[in-house]
Formats: sequence, structure tokens, C-alpha cells
Amino acid sequence: MTTNASKSATLRTLHWEGGVDGHLVLIDQTLLPTEFKEIDCRNVETAWEAIKTLRVRGAPAIGVAAAYSVCVGIQTASSADEKGLYRRIEEVLKYLATSRPTAVNLFWALDRMRKVAESIRGKMSPGDVAVRLLKEAHAIEDEDRQTCRDIGRYGAALLTDGQGVLTHCNAGGLATADYGTALAVIFAATEAGRKVHVYADETRPLLQGARLTAWELAQRKIPVTLICDSMAAQVMREGRVQAVIVGADRIAANGDTANKIGTYSVAIVAAHHKIPFYVAAPASTFDFAIGSGAEIPIEHRDSREITHGFGRQTAPEGIDVYNPAFDVTPANLIAGFITEKGVIRSPYLENLRKTLKPAVANPAAA
Ligand code: MRU
Repeated sequence: MTTNASKSATLRTLHWEGGVDGHLVLIDQTLLPTEFKEIDCRNVETAWEAIKTLRVRGAPAIGVAAAYSVCVGIQTASSADEKGLYRRIEEVLKYLATSRPTAVNLFWALDRMRKVAESIRGKMSPGDVAVRLLKEAHAIEDEDRQTCRDIGRYGAALLTDGQGVLTHCNAGGLATADYGTALAVIFAATEAGRKVHVYADETRPLLQGARLTAWELAQRKIPVTLICDSMAAQVMREGRVQAVIVGADRIAANGDTANKIGTYSVAIVAAHHKIPFYVAAPASTFDFAIGSGAEIPIEHRDSREITHGFGRQTAPEGIDVYNPAFDVTPANLIAGFITEKGVIRSPYLENLRKTLKPAVANPAAA
């Protein structure tokens, strides 16, 4: 389905269409803000490509997409025996894990699907295993919706009427099943009657801030001013910003946070201006298996995203390019983590684990 983007009434980042033989449908975010088009993923290769090329992106949305992609991927083994089905499940899980490396939600969702599959091995027919896995994918999506509402509710309490809030990249409804993380806080504050003015970094090189955040906010009629990434310091010095809220792709046990490239610079500039810098993220974005940000795998992307962005060559042919898609903000620059369990303050090593570890461990109930 293609429509003029400004006419898209409801925002459904992704969903499953039909029963166990159905397919994954997702908004092609690479076309926004000028075109609103949904694409059907009827095989796992199409789903993998959609994750890799950022048709679906944002850590929680990638997790939900991965779970549904498993369901699509095992359909080819629907008439196999149990051994054949489980061989295919493992193959699909491994394949999807190669799509993008940084957002831990992807691996969290795949791990959850694997645990469910293992917990019912030998107890159900191959057909029923597929039904059970689809149920789990639906649960991951539904939980993400609720989680984002809870993040919004807890975070809204941090904002007061008339504040300017700067955000980087897109941590809105498009980055989750619905409602977002960083933008959820702004949506919830606005719904509570507070006036908030958002400054959206355009977010080089792929412009998630300009194309997606500005679009989402405009759709909801929330005041937003688009700025180039390099303007954040000036905007803060002019006193336009009283809080920064960003999302995250992976947070280490000590609170070091990987998010879209440029986030670290924003955090440094915010600290210089004594502006609180918050990270809004669900428990599924916390990786307690790693001690610090130094261990977070950072995705490096094609140099053409910088030299040939959006169809036009903007750098000399063959120029050397460095294109890490994420950076790590050290925990000491973060004023608090806005999660579905509440706002968590330092000392992070102790408080993150205490509050969130049980939620991350969430054993998939059979
Ligand atoms: O490369 P992207 O667009 O997937 O990067 C997304 C981000 O960095 C988001 O800020 C992050 O995933 C948080 S989404 C709620």
C-alpha cells in the first residue's frame, strides 16, 4: 500500500497479517517522509534485507521484526518432521543474527524465540510449534507496546511545562511497535497537558531525525524545530533546551550506552551546559552480559551513505570514509535511564541490575 505520507492516518510500524501461514508487514522507513508504503515480508530473506537496509529500524522494532521473521522463515519447514523443523529454526535464528550487530533487542528476541522452541521440543507437533512461536512473536510485539507506554508515563514526570527538549535520531513509534521510547516521554508529557518544544537533530548520515522524528512529531502536531547535528551546542547556549532525551541500541551493565552516531557529542555538549541528558529504553535494550561500552559491537556501514547520500554524490570519488553507525556515551554523562520499571539513577552498576535484570531474564512462558 502506498499513500502520500502526510495522509497516513495510523502508524503501525509493523504487524503480522493472517494466521500461522501469514506474513510480516512493515512500513518501509527508507521512503519516509515523502512516501508511506508498507511492504510484505513473505520469506526470511526479504525480512533480513528489510532489517539490514533500515526499512525497519530502531532497536525495539528490530527485535519485534526479528521475532516475526523467525515465523516467516520456518514456514518452508511446515511439512518437515520435528528434526527438520528444528534444523530450520536454528538456521533461521543464525541467519537473522547476521543482519545488524549493535541493537541487542535483535539478539534478545531471537534468544527468546529459541528458548520457547527448546521448551516445547518433543512435546508438540511441528505445526503446533509454529503456532506457539507465532504466539511468542505476538507477545513480544504486545509487550513492546505496553513497555513504551510505561516509559512515556515515567519519563513525562521529568518534564515541566514550556521546556525545550533535544533528541537525536528517531526513538519514536517508528523505532518500536508503537509510541516510542524517547518520543514516548514527549508524547506522554503532551498528553498530560504540558507544552514541550522539541529540537530534532537531523542525524547524519541517514537523517532519521529529519525524515522520521520530525515527521512523527508533525503528524501529532507537537512543536518541533529541525536542526543540523552541528547546531546542538549553539541551541543549548541560547537557552532553548532544558533536557535531552535519546533512545539506545545497547546498554552495558555499567550504564555505558550505544546509540546513533552523534549521541556522544550531544551528551558532552549537554554536560557542558549543565542540561540533564536522559536515555529512554526498555529492559530488552540492556545487556548485562557485558561490563562496559568497550565491549559493545559497533556496526560500520557502507561509505556510500556518506559520499552518495540520497542519490547525489557529495564527496570526491574514491575518498576514504569512516562510517560507524553508533557511538558509546559513557554512563557518567547520563542523568538517568527512563525504563518501563521507572527512572533509574546512578550508581548504575548496582541499580540497573537490581531493577532490570529479572525483566531481561524474562523466561518465555510456554
Ligand atoms: O540505525 P538505526 O536507525 O536503527 O538507529 C536507531 C537508533 O539509534 C535509535 O536511537 C535507537 O535504536 C533507539 S530506538 C527506540
